[in-house]
Amino acid sequence: MLGIKNLDVKYGDVQVLWDVSLRVDENEFVAIIGANGAGKSTLLKTIAGLIGPSDGEILFLGEKLNGLPPHRIVRRGVSLIPERRELFGNLTVYENLLMGGYTVSKNEIEDRAEWIYNYFPILRERRNQLARTLSGGEQQMLAIARGLMSKPKLLMLDEPSLGLAPKISSELFRLIEKLNSEGITILLVEQNVKKTLKIATRAYVLENGRMIMEGESEDLLRNENIRKAYLGI
Ligand SMILES: Nc1ncnc2c1ncn2[C@@H]1O[C@H](COP(=O)(O)OP(=O)(O)O)[C@@H](O)[C@H]1O
Ligand SMILES: [Mg+2]
Repeated sequence: MLGIKNLDVKYGDVQVLWDVSLRVDENEFVAIIGANGAGKSTLLKTIAGLIGPSDGEILFLGEKLNGLPPHRIVRRGVSLIPERRELFGNLTVYENLLMGGYTVSKNEIEDRAEWIYNYFPILRERRNQLARTLSGGEQQMLAIARGLMSKPKLLMLDEPSLGLAPKISSELFRLIEKLNSEGITILLVEQNVKKTLKIATRAYVLENGRMIMEGESEDLLRNENIRKAYLGI
């Protein structure tokens, strides 16, 4: 579904991704793990078209994504839930959903919101509440819900569990698993390595802008280097 080949990304003169390659198959649940500053967010933003790569190629369903503006990438079926959520705090839950539905036609928008509320009943209850009055967990739910409004084929999530209590993040992980089991392909970036490797099928390890390892999550969980570097065991 998604194929990235030999990607280089720079901020000005400073290169932060080096020769990064990765693939995600249809219906897969793939994770990218790595320390703070490794380049995880940069990679997702590059896929979403928010940053242009200086070299390499991004293919989605056989077509080149790099070079397309972000809204065209959304239309192709790729959605990014950004780090730190970036909600509109002074807009209601429903208005935030509308913001994520800018590619959806007017007569479809209500159905789309209903489809979303089935996954997030709490957002239906809170539909007229301002986003900033929601709890941290509910805000993350809303960020994901907004990203789902375009009905993506590939959903990319950038550290959704950041700042959430363990119980809430477990709930969130279950929800992501559910979305995956209902046919949405997932590319998840996380620092919560243990939880992530327990739900993703495959994972990549990004270190200082380079992919240093790739494998089945089960194997990575047993890997000595991973255990030392990321699980503190
Ligand atoms: N807008 C930016 N301008 C310049 N450097 C940046 C910018 N955003 C991130 N960086 C740098 O790029 C590197 C990778 O950052 P990032 O992709 O945010 O890593 P991660 O998400 O893995 O923590 C870091 O060294 C960071 O300081
Ligand atoms: Mg990041």
